[in-house]
Amino acid sequence: MAHKTFGIDFGTGTIKVYKRSEGIVLNERNVVATVGKSSEKRPVAIGDSAYEMFEKAPPSIHVSFPMHHGVIADLQDMIALWDFMVEKVSGRRRLKGADFYISVPADIGQVEKNAFSKIITEGQCSPRRVCLIDKPIADALGMKLDIEKARGIMIVNMGADTTELSVLSLGGIVVSKLLPYGGNYFDTQIMNYIRKEHNFVIGRKSAEQIKKRLVSAVPVDESTTAMGRNVVKGLPGEVLIQSGEIFPLVRDVFYEISGAIRSMLERTPPEIASQIQEDGIYLTGAGSWLKGLDQLIADQTRHKVNTSRQAQKTVITGLGYLAENPKMALRYSVPLTQTGK
Ligand SMILES: Nc1ncnc2c1ncn2[C@@H]1O[C@H](COP(=O)(O)OP(=O)(O)OP(=O)(O)O)[C@@H](O)[C@H]1O
Ligand SMILES: [Mg+2]
Repeated sequence: MAHKTFGIDFGTGTIKVYKRSEGIVLNERNVVATVGKSSEKRPVAIGDSAYEMFEKAPPSIHVSFPMHHGVIADLQDMIALWDFMVEKVSGRRRLKGADFYISVPADIGQVEKNAFSKIITEGQCSPRRVCLIDKPIADALGMKLDIEKARGIMIVNMGADTTELSVLSLGGIVVSKLLPYGGNYFDTQIMNYIRKEHNFVIGRKSAEQIKKRLVSAVPVDESTTAMGRNVVKGLPGEVLIQSGEIFPLVRDVFYEISGAIRSMLERTPPEIASQIQEDGIYLTGAGSWLKGLDQLIADQTRHKVNTSRQAQKTVITGLGYLAENPKMALRYSVPLTQTGK
């Protein structure tokens, strides 16, 4: 029987879990709902069901997002969340002796990377091994790119709270840069704008729906309505939003991202840059589904841009590949915990 092995992509917005021999077994919001204070605190819901409670829960239930900008903001909440999640992914409350492959942003400090392994080692799991895998490596493997042979792969992963730009060559990371904004940035901009200009308070979930319809890196002409509360009248109602109102709020960040990609390309050694020029830039992460992002990056960098319908799952697919090929995983991972045999 195959050894129990899991790949986990603890994204700021969503957690994805791969189980060896079974495939992706979980893709849920990275949210935890707790009751009680400090040492008394215990989770009552996690994942999508905790997110459902967001903006609706009574004051006795605290709904929180334990990661910010790709790193762990509240380790205790993250441990509680994972311990609760174990039953969902393994069918039992306790999981002993399993191996874990966890993706981490490449451009963060070692202490922040190590914190990801603590989610497992300081919880109730008692793992056999926890290995950290740099996210761009998992991303490339998930796209089935031959990272050992390639002399130049550029990946831009736009997630919920981060956009990570990386250049890989011959199985390693040449350079990586983590920008502190992703898809959630647009939700916040939309909420603030509608509050200020329309006197309407809308929730984060409505803002996310507006983003998916109206946010575009190049101008488009569309509109949508959202439910909210009129702050002047104090009554619930509907507000009509045009894409033309949103574009000025988001344009700068798109140019900042494409500018950062251009400057990374300019600093990339010519032998590596030439293969990137040939193959194009790979755009991943669910934030990459924002309209026109591929077109803007292609125009600004004069490179072909490859997009994917699987963009949210490329990292977890790569971790899954390593979970199925543990010998290969050793080549890319830093084993932090080694207990038992
Ligand atoms: N169809 C869509 N169009 C635009 N944005 C989308 C779409 N679907 C999801 N998103 C956005 O993608 C983001 C989530 O992407 P993803 O799951 O790749 O992030 P993550 O891995 O959780 O975060 P990070 O990598 O930053 O830690 C959210 O901001 C979400 O609103
Ligand atoms: Mg991600």
